Amino acid sequence: MNLIFLGPLGAGKGTQARLLQEREGIPQISTGDMLRAAMVAETPLGQQAKAYVDRGELVPDDVMIGLIAERLAQPDAQRGFVLDGFPRTLPQAKALDEVLAESGRTLDAVLYFRVSDETVVRRLGGRWVCRKNGHIYHLEYRPPKVSGRCDVDGSELFQRPDDRAETVRHRLDVYHRETEPVVEFYRARGLLATIDAEGEVEDIYRTLLGAIRARVKLGAQAQGG
Ligand code: AP5
Repeated sequence: MNLIFLGPLGAGKGTQARLLQEREGIPQISTGDMLRAAMVAETPLGQQAKAYVDRGELVPDDVMIGLIAERLAQPDAQRGFVLDGFPRTLPQAKALDEVLAESGRTLDAVLYFRVSDETVVRRLGGRWVCRKNGHIYHLEYRPPKVSGRCDVDGSELFQRPDDRAETVRHRLDVYHRETEPVVEFYRARGLLATIDAEGEVEDIYRTLLGAIRARVKLGAQAQGG
């Protein structure tokens, strides 16, 4: 299955993509995680990306398109993927079509996580992330068993610098301006399934799985399968 998770910051895309990876074995490809790993390792990509990410701006399209083309060529992405955080602009969406077409692949579905700006602000204000593997917690909604430590690998939890309130407000503006047109792009193509992402994590997971199965079945029927 070739899937895209689309939606605002803090909608729960990363939380759900990780569950889908653990339970269904579909690899999560998170451009945000890739950029943060490059920033920690201080690679040329990381050094270039840092100024954009810390300010809540988008990293330039040409950089992101090159990064995702390379990642989608790797062996584990050949049998399916969940793109989490890409595409975020119309040029990225169009470039993704070309990258997939070159390797004879198509998209099965685009899952659009719909939440209000108020929910985004509440969720990101309480988010803590594990330093080693990026496991995601929330002080109120998904607290770790031991304060400040990851349940899975025991590593330290930290708050992302771009989760500061003023940066979150700016990221929301960027989302509404640059990424909402991408939602309409996929809606017009008939690929979009909208998920109400305001509820409990496990309820949303069940809805998500149902929507993915329904879309994949539809696609198979359209191809006479
Ligand atoms: P990225 O890391 O992709 O950030 P994002 O899209 O802004 O998404 P988030 O990680 O903030 O949210 P999420 O939806 O994954 O929510 P989560 O599951 O963590 O990108 C960061 C930056 O990198 C960008 O700003 C940009 O600079 C750059 N970048 C990345 N990709 C790029 C691209 N393609 N082009 C250009 N630049 C790019 O959940 C949030 C919180 O809520 C957590 O605490 C979680 O525990 C909690 N939570 C989740 N679900 C629920 C629920 N149902 N109920 C209660 N709490 C919940």
